[in-house]
Amino acid sequence: MKTFVITAVLAFSMLSVTPSSAKETLAEATKGKFLMGVAVNMPQVNGFDPIQTEQIATEFSAIVPENCMKPGPIHPEENRFNWEDADKVVAFAEKNKQVVTGHCLIWHSQLPRWFFVDSTGADVSPEVLKERMRQHIHAVVGRYKGRIKGWDVVNEAFEDNGSYRNSKFFRILGKDFIKYAFQFAHEADPNAELYYNDYNVETPSKCDGIVKMVKELKEAGCRIDAVGSQSHMHMDSPSVEAIETSIKKLRDAGVQVLITEWDISILPSAYSGANISTQVGYAEKMDPYRAGVPDSVQQKWNKRVLDVFSIYVKYSDVVDRVTVWGLNDNGTWLNNFPIRGRMDYPVLFDRKNNRKSVVDEMIRLAKKGTK
Ligand code: XIL
Repeated sequence: MKTFVITAVLAFSMLSVTPSSAKETLAEATKGKFLMGVAVNMPQVNGFDPIQTEQIATEFSAIVPENCMKPGPIHPEENRFNWEDADKVVAFAEKNKQVVTGHCLIWHSQLPRWFFVDSTGADVSPEVLKERMRQHIHAVVGRYKGRIKGWDVVNEAFEDNGSYRNSKFFRILGKDFIKYAFQFAHEADPNAELYYNDYNVETPSKCDGIVKMVKELKEAGCRIDAVGSQSHMHMDSPSVEAIETSIKKLRDAGVQVLITEWDISILPSAYSGANISTQVGYAEKMDPYRAGVPDSVQQKWNKRVLDVFSIYVKYSDVVDRVTVWGLNDNGTWLNNFPIRGRMDYPVLFDRKNNRKSVVDEMIRLAKKGTK
């Protein structure tokens, strides 16, 4: 009896999910236009749910680890590295013939405390910080030399108004910390692509700040291949026009554009940035779809996905990769950001592992070339 129930449940759950192998995939449809990527977590890489692992392997041509390569997880103490998870991610990608992005080398968040302080707890000197950056970047980039296509070298160094973020890196080293990071990464793997990554790149003042930095890096002789636009979006913002303008500005600055962390929150917006230390208190009215998304709202979200995706397709000569920040609605970080405990629906697979219907339309759109 027990075996029968288990078999029946398994058969039912498999029936409710169309195997991705039976359908055309996003990876196939976008081939020759851009890489189609997804951020992966360790349970998925470890195969805790074979369906998700299979979806990641077949539906996407690129992956990026959601957390395990960040300075905090990978380099928790000055003389200790955790390579295990990052090694598994790279091996997973190689097994499935996927491109891997390293995310991320220098960032003010998810940074281990030791990085900025000496043994008395005081801030380190500019020389010591620069040397720690060098050692960190050489160790991490060096370990995966030749196996990672490109690195998010610096993440989120700007404020929305285009000024430099007043991070510890900036306070101790000034804006040159960015240049040093790019130099060290290039020394460690001369063939790796190097990226600057940020959120709200569509905000004109921020985009202008980034463009200026790109030009300065190039003038200083640094390699910079692309700017990553995180693209954590809402239902109404940024506008399609703002997205398009930012892509053009970056293209004109002589870099490729990567869409690195795409998601579109369906929920009322409490904050328009992605600085992960921001937390807003829970309120029921900010969490309206616990029992499901009404059809009219779902249609609006689908249209938003296609409006934005059609821009990526239109600019596929300069957009090299479109990466979704998470496989399914169950695992998305937006269930806990910027408000903890909500139910969001921002990515391409639902809570039951079904590929959303909008993906069929994305595939059509990618193959046709325009909307
Ligand atoms: C997020 C992860 O998705 C979460 O799991 C983690 O708790 C916090 O960081 N910008 C980035 C990403 O560059 O690394 C962040 O990822 C989201 C915002």
